[in-house]
Amino acid sequence: MKNIGIDIIENKRFDSFIDNPRKYSRILSDKEKDLFMKITNKSRKREYLAGRFAAKEAVIKALAHSGYSFKYTDISVLNAPDGSPYVVLENYPACKILLSLSHSKENSVAVAVLIDKDE
Ligand SMILES: CC(C)(COP(=O)(O)OP(=O)(O)OC[C@H]1O[C@@H](n2cnc3c(N)ncnc32)[C@H](O)[C@@H]1OP(=O)(O)O)[C@@H](O)C(=O)NCCC(=O)NCCS
Repeated sequence: MKNIGIDIIENKRFDSFIDNPRKYSRILSDKEKDLFMKITNKSRKREYLAGRFAAKEAVIKALAHSGYSFKYTDISVLNAPDGSPYVVLENYPACKILLSLSHSKENSVAVAVLIDKDE
């Protein structure tokens, strides 16, 4: 199965999430929360939240025909040592997802590509 998903989101939508654990816990997985809580710069926190949200929406679009449904917290968007983003999905190991993320001051955008595991 192959598919693609994209999402763009305004960073300012997350202003009220930054200091609200109830709100950011609806989006972030436990691992992402650990990383989020170590960020001290407020605008990076906002960008981090917006970027993870855009990435998860893109992943959910790419997986739309998979027959599975996902909560935001089932999806982790992490960074390799070189900074490149990758996706970890809880309870759905049978696929590989390529992800790319970009931020401007105003927006965050993400593209996710679902490919067969053996490709
Ligand atoms: C990666 C790079 C292109 C990001 O570009 P930018 O215009 O500053 O920032 P953007 O907003 O477009 O992209 C940021 C996102 O790119 C992604 N990213 C970071 N490093 C990356 C890399 N090496 N490859 C692919 N994606 C990367 C991340 O997802 C990041 O968002 P996040 O930190 O919220 O997850 C830029 O920082 C760069 O060229 N860095 C050097 C990369 C490198 O490979 N260095 C190793 C030595 S050669």
